[in-house]
Amino acid sequence: MANKIGRNDACWCGSGKKYKTCHEAIDRKIEMFKNQGALVPSRALLKTPDQIEKIKESAKINIACLDAVAEQIKAGMSTAEIDKIVYDTTIKYHGIPAPLNYEGFPKSVCTSINDAVCHGIPSEDEILQDGDIINVDCSTILDGYFSDSSRMFMIGNVSAEDKKLVEDVKKACELGLEQVKPWGFLGDMGQTINDFCKSQGYSVVREIGGHGVGLEFHEEPWVSYVTKKGTDMLMVPGMMFTIEPMVNMGAPDVFVDSDNDWTVYTEDGSKSAQWEFQVLVTEDGYEIISY
Ligand code: MF3
Ligand code: CO
Repeated sequence: MANKIGRNDACWCGSGKKYKTCHEAIDRKIEMFKNQGALVPSRALLKTPDQIEKIKESAKINIACLDAVAEQIKAGMSTAEIDKIVYDTTIKYHGIPAPLNYEGFPKSVCTSINDAVCHGIPSEDEILQDGDIINVDCSTILDGYFSDSSRMFMIGNVSAEDKKLVEDVKKACELGLEQVKPWGFLGDMGQTINDFCKSQGYSVVREIGGHGVGLEFHEEPWVSYVTKKGTDMLMVPGMMFTIEPMVNMGAPDVFVDSDNDWTVYTEDGSKSAQWEFQVLVTEDGYEIISY
């Protein structure tokens, strides 16, 4: 990139520091990778310290919503009640539920039970049953900044097989997280997740993945978990994205419910689980922003 900025000028990131003590070294390293043919993030994808603070404030609400769900979720409850918990918690802290009216989505949170892979729509008519596994996917806007994370919940007595799926997908995310560090590639994280899931006999959904997040709900890059080490975007300090693999007990194939054009199910009816972490690439690794 043509660098007109002087070494003693203020850095482009708005930190107030001189360019030479802020982003100069990082820019040079990005340039080097780019010259070697790597896909590199644009400056717009590198969050400034100020933006990171604001995104963290948004994430506090997102975490509070999922904590509130964790406390109250139980058999006999409708998914509409989960929606109300998320809506009320978000409003209490002056946030906005990001899913509400997003591309026509009618509720404040996604609730996806058993063979529902993602984008389940909360309903009065959907009652949690003993033995269900459910993903609650929560996203918040505060002051224009976005947070996004999801957790699995096990309702009552869940079969050993389903419990293992839920726990293994969390473990896969944790193994993936360990791959998040500057100057590695998103594919390092993606392949690590896929390898572990496959080793346990599961399959990872190919069509839907993670995304950059923070200044928008969904930013670049698209994040795959069926990818190869050393491929996809270079990870650079300040990048923020989600780790949110959808993992099926059976085949990877999925379909969208034609009744609502939102909810995704496994084609073979097998159970599916997902955890989502919002992650920042730091100078020496990663920081979890929302969980
Ligand atoms: N939270 C989901 C994600 O991780 C997005 C849901 S979009 C919605 O990307 F409209 F369905 F909420
Ligand atoms: Co997401």
